[in-house]
Amino acid sequence: MSTAPASQKIIVVDFGAQYGQLIARRVRDLHVYSEIVPCDVSADEVRALAPAAIILSGGPASVYADDAPSLDPEVFELGIPVLGFCYGQQIMAVTLGGTVGHTEVGEYGAATLRRCDGGASLLYGETPAEQTVWMSHRDAVAEVPEGFVVTASTDTCPVASMECAERRLYATQFHPEVRHTACGDELLRNFLFGVCGLEPSWKMDSIINDAAEAIRAQVGDARVILGLSGGVDSSVVAALCAKAIGKQLTCVFVNHGLLRKDEPEEVEAVFTKQFDVDFVHVHAEDRYAALLADVVEPEEKRRIIGSQFWNEFFAVAQDLAEGGRPVKFLAQGTIYPDIIESGARKTGGKASTIKSHHNLIPFPEGVSFELIEPLDHFFKDEVRALGTTLGLPDHIVHRQPFPGPGLAIRIIGTVTRDKLAILKEADAIVREELDEYNAACDPESRVWQYFAVLPDIKSVGVMGDERTYGYPIILRAVESSDAMTADWAKLPYDVLGRISGRIVAEVPGVNRVAYDVTSKPPATIEWE
Ligand code: XMP
Repeated sequence: MSTAPASQKIIVVDFGAQYGQLIARRVRDLHVYSEIVPCDVSADEVRALAPAAIILSGGPASVYADDAPSLDPEVFELGIPVLGFCYGQQIMAVTLGGTVGHTEVGEYGAATLRRCDGGASLLYGETPAEQTVWMSHRDAVAEVPEGFVVTASTDTCPVASMECAERRLYATQFHPEVRHTACGDELLRNFLFGVCGLEPSWKMDSIINDAAEAIRAQVGDARVILGLSGGVDSSVVAALCAKAIGKQLTCVFVNHGLLRKDEPEEVEAVFTKQFDVDFVHVHAEDRYAALLADVVEPEEKRRIIGSQFWNEFFAVAQDLAEGGRPVKFLAQGTIYPDIIESGARKTGGKASTIKSHHNLIPFPEGVSFELIEPLDHFFKDEVRALGTTLGLPDHIVHRQPFPGPGLAIRIIGTVTRDKLAILKEADAIVREELDEYNAACDPESRVWQYFAVLPDIKSVGVMGDERTYGYPIILRAVESSDAMTADWAKLPYDVLGRISGRIVAEVPGVNRVAYDVTSKPPATIEWE
């Protein structure tokens, strides 16, 4: 193993937004700090960043396309180790005098890789002679540059990887950063710790300290406002900002009266007792009740609830300004998948004055904030880990998805206080029982999301010799990984029976429970 370099930083040169972040994430998982830089970075800029190593990402272009991104050739002359993946290998090849051609057939998906390095490649180290890798390419390196050797191939890709160990330049046509590449992590580990001599020292505490430092540097002594829903992402941003800037942060919790039982109290307790921030609990229950009084149409409910949230939120910002505490920044819990899904922005600069954003409605005339989005390069599981390290309780960190419009879209028809009271009680029983069921299950068989729905119908029942005419409760419990598709959970009959028995016995006004056995598609998870 070489001696540890002074710098412990990796830079990931991004040739296509989706790829760079996943590589950075894998590097973080191995406890090494990484920064993403755009592919037009110059050699002088790289020198100034002084990384211990450079990783070149994949990308969608063909190296020979007119507008194909290239890399400053001087980057390869800096004496810094470089590892290229896919497009990164092709860029390395053409920049250093090799050639890239079209393969007869593209190669997409799993492929069997055969090492031909005689066991000498530090990148492959102790990994097997044959291994499964993930390919996604049409072009491929045809001739390696002078000084390079081919270290592995597949049936359709003669140069599946190449290296010039003397100059510490390595590249693979496949993607070690994706999970389908069996030894992907090991290859990365071999590069970072074996070839570059880095130490796995960048842990969760360092991530939090660096993020807090970045927030302090961005904000200075200005005031920051945050819309807190009690969901994982906004709660983690709040905890992070609390650590970074304490009382300069105002958390605005708009209580629309549509949250689950005990939830407003739990959110308030965490952010007033555990974190030292300015916390504003906006009691908007009456205003929401009035606005929703006659509304039946689901999209109309969503629109009203969303736009009233911003009315409430801007009113607090205005109060703060009038009280001599003007707000300059808006903190948001945008996480990396949000950006990918919206396709809205590229990686890079953190602060931008918003005009439109997938999370936001347009600001009123004269209102503008700069954004702080400290989670914008993290994945959901990393955000949860950050939350735990920051001291957030499990019931917030491991919260199941909950829609912004809350229980209003789980009450079919008009939303009234009576119906809300019924649904909150029934939902609390569903959660209690299924939390317990999940705790006893192995992780793969746990139910992913579960809740109660109150339809707009009544039926006849009999309780204690009395006729009843009450609401049914629909139980919805699904298995999913990303909410894009879902299947109804095959819950044991005794669990279903217990939930049904408890709801009918404990929630006045309910005399029947039905279980929704529909997948998504054709249904959706929520009823509205
Ligand atoms: P559907 O009903 O479309 O829901 O199958 C998919 C997932 O998204 C959640 N959901 C929402 N989450 N704001 C949110 O933050 C919303 O307006 C919203 N609507 C649905 C839903 O709970 C499920 O997990």
